[in-house]
Amino acid sequence: MERVIVPDSTPEDVGFENSLRPKKLEEYIGQSRIKDNIRIFIDAAKLRNESLEHVLLYGPPGLGKTTLAHIIANETGSNIRVTSGPAIEKAGDLAAILTNLQDGEILFIDEIHRLNRLIEEVLYPAMEDYCLDIIVGKGPSARTVKIDLPKFTLIGATTRASLLSAPLRDRFGSTFHLDFYAENEIQQIVERAAQILSVAIEPEAAQEIAKRGRRTPRIANRLLKRVRDYCQVMGDGNVSQKFTFEGLDRLEVDNMGLDSVDRKILAAIIEKFHGGPVGVGTIAAATGEEEATIEDMYEPFLMQIGFLHRTPRGRVATQSAYQHLGVEIPKGML
Ligand code: ADE
Repeated sequence: MERVIVPDSTPEDVGFENSLRPKKLEEYIGQSRIKDNIRIFIDAAKLRNESLEHVLLYGPPGLGKTTLAHIIANETGSNIRVTSGPAIEKAGDLAAILTNLQDGEILFIDEIHRLNRLIEEVLYPAMEDYCLDIIVGKGPSARTVKIDLPKFTLIGATTRASLLSAPLRDRFGSTFHLDFYAENEIQQIVERAAQILSVAIEPEAAQEIAKRGRRTPRIANRLLKRVRDYCQVMGDGNVSQKFTFEGLDRLEVDNMGLDSVDRKILAAIIEKFHGGPVGVGTIAAATGEEEATIEDMYEPFLMQIGFLHRTPRGRVATQSAYQHLGVEIPKGML
């Protein structure tokens, strides 16, 4: 079955998300500390008539890093160019992008932790001194040429700040850590999305989608889309509580927002490794999922809801995880 709770963006999400994406800071729900800080630092840069400092946004996928980058561009009236770490294959690719920027433009690099080290080194002088050092020629006649760059702002997004090299991290003026949303914030996001999509939704339906939406706007909006389809086919098109419950049950998303892979991961830890501690590589082998997928997409939420702990010796399933799966808690744990 098609997975609905994977927080990574899929091609299907792109147009859908763009239509729902808030354009202004005041339309953006949640992450209030980050919004306050972004407001101040935009206003300060405007007062000084300077370009913004470079910004690093980090946090699990689907929480709104790309949305915030577009909002910053919109609020400052700047043009934004969008690329990603894996799309930049050679140092020359990045040099071409940088030399084509205009003064005051924003360069957004998604998944910036996936830039290779040689390419990162091109970024250091670009971020710090707005210049590029290019080596021209070969052998004894090779020389370095400095090219001036426009005063641009880099916004980097990453799911894992720890994978960035220290020199790169140090060159960002501010770093914002996006965290999972509160359930009532997700409910507001779902209600806002329903309004934009012109579908009527019962508050209990929005609440249920929020409950199963992993505190992640991308996933909640995707569930809304599926439930809307279900209500259209089974009912009169209005998103009712009854059809929302049925539709979500059919998607195998349970009342905590876990899907079959989450449950498979927890079941493996509990049933095959006595609840852990067990290394993530071993969990990957036992479940047939990729290690990086487990680390980036599943564990953050399982840890957030207190079903999983990371310890120096490996992953451990908690009592709540046992209870959720209906497995008896071992005596030693009580
Ligand atoms: N759509 C996706 N994320 C959102 C957010 N944080 N606020 C409002 N709408 C959203």
